[in-house]
Amino acid sequence: TVGNSTNIFWHECPVGKVDRQKLLNQQGCVVWITGLSGSGKSTLACSLGRTLHSRGKLSYVLDGDNLRHGLNKNLGFSPEDRTENIRRVGEVAKLFADAGLICIASLISPYCKDRDACRALLSENFFEARLCYVFLNMPLELCEERDPKGLYKLARAGKIKGFTGIDDPYEPPSNCEIEITQKDGICPTPNEMAGQVVSYLEDKGYLE
Ligand code: PPS
Repeated sequence: TVGNSTNIFWHECPVGKVDRQKLLNQQGCVVWITGLSGSGKSTLACSLGRTLHSRGKLSYVLDGDNLRHGLNKNLGFSPEDRTENIRRVGEVAKLFADAGLICIASLISPYCKDRDACRALLSENFFEARLCYVFLNMPLELCEERDPKGLYKLARAGKIKGFTGIDDPYEPPSNCEIEITQKDGICPTPNEMAGQVVSYLEDKGYLE
């Protein structure tokens, strides 16, 4: 039995991950950006995507907000729906990495248990550990001051219930590979943030 289904089987295709990697001349992996709304996740994702593209590496951004227009349009922001959101994106990211792409997932992903589940999913035996978490550790006050979509204002006014950081928790990761913070009260630029991730990927041999 797999999940709720019985009598289902796994099919192997003759063209495998290694063949695809050879064709693309790169290894698939997942860079997962987590942080509060307004912390700069999408900005970092785009900047990283641009840098990788200019270096001849194929990447694809899975943005939480965007996926909620399609794949996840039936999900809201209850704890259960957020968990299902992260689970689905984890599965999609796994497929993208298996396809040979550098998958950049950009979601609030506020709960430790959901991030841990994704890490486990991407570390299963048949799939080497290829997930790195990037924690955009920006103070709530800064995100709230930026408030690019005016959502914090609505949440403070009680017009949005269960908003992350206001009346729904953000559980900071303790085991992320990369943490990006302010230095002396100054935020790194999108390029600097992307540079930090690129250095990590270089060290791990993903950009050869
Ligand atoms: S989650 O928590 O990981 O499932 O969220 P995610 O899929 O990344 O979606 C976050 C974007 O949804 C908008 N939004 C909310 N965020 C947090 N809490 C509540 N209640 C909420 N309602 C709507 C918001 O624009 C988030 O976008 P970002 O890019 O993070 O600012």
